[in-house]
Amino acid sequence: MPTTPLSQFPPSGVALIQGASRGIGLALVEALLAVETVGRVYASCRQPQQADRLQHLVVEHPQRLSLLPLDVTDEASIAAAAATVAAQSGALHLLVNCAGVLHDAQHELFPEKKLADVRAESLHYSFTVNAVGPLLMAKHCQPLFRHRQRAVFASISARVGSISDNRLGGWYAYRGSKVAQNMFTRNIAIEYGRSVRNTICVALHPGTTDTELSQPFQTNVPDAKLFTPHYTAVRLLSVIDGLTPADSGGFFAWDGQPIGW
Ligand SMILES: NC(=O)c1ccc[n+]([C@@H]2O[C@H](COP(=O)([O-])OP(=O)(O)OC[C@H]3O[C@@H](n4cnc5c(N)ncnc54)[C@H](OP(=O)(O)O)[C@@H]3O)[C@@H](O)[C@H]2O)c1
Repeated sequence: MPTTPLSQFPPSGVALIQGASRGIGLALVEALLAVETVGRVYASCRQPQQADRLQHLVVEHPQRLSLLPLDVTDEASIAAAAATVAAQSGALHLLVNCAGVLHDAQHELFPEKKLADVRAESLHYSFTVNAVGPLLMAKHCQPLFRHRQRAVFASISARVGSISDNRLGGWYAYRGSKVAQNMFTRNIAIEYGRSVRNTICVALHPGTTDTELSQPFQTNVPDAKLFTPHYTAVRLLSVIDGLTPADSGGFFAWDGQPIGW
């Protein structure tokens, strides 16, 4: 399996993967733990005690992996997670916001094919998780980036959140919430550029990846274009490692190519 050297990550640096119970977030945790120079990884999701793979990993890496309960729809839980990282580690060198929803039976959320399918409640839930979540992470984790080392704040977005790339329509809640997430990422980059200047802030498109999120929509995806979560994680970490301060505020795909807004 390919690994990533993470040459720009400070020795013993600290990472937080938000939305880490499965899919791309879990693969990022596994890929980071495979890099010996990464000092500590925090992995968050709503119910860590029910995240079987994370529970196994924490037994394997008791000194380097910590699990945090964090629901992006609950600001108090974000503040509590940030406070725990502050108390235990004092700083963050990488934060990746992975949590996202495309479909969710509990919230009657499914990608809309036409205007008649649009529901205000689905829009609200998508925006809350996909856009407001990463924004509140940026708010509460900002003090953790007040240090002199290189750091990266990344939010996993999606190419369908590019307005200029939109030729198919549909998916109102997902597309709209990813556009909002992208605008927030750009705004955070500008403010972080003034207040926590060593932190590079970007939106990343992972490519179509074989996870629960993409599962109902994989039928027409050729095998070669459906990535394993591990492949995606390694590619995203490679992109993160190659970012420079000039990239802050940008939107990049898994292969490092910039994506137009
Ligand atoms: N897979 C793809 O092809 C693809 C393509 C483009 C973009 N993306 C983006 O990549 C990101 C990761 O997607 P994925 O495919 O890995 O999805 P996934 O396998 O469905 O995992 C979603 C993650 O989000 C977490 N999550 C959901 N709601 C949450 C909430 N309210 N608070 C905290 N965590 C929450 C889940 O944790 P719990 O439910 O355990 O709390 C889980 O860890 C998303 O932002 C998605 O939009 C994915």
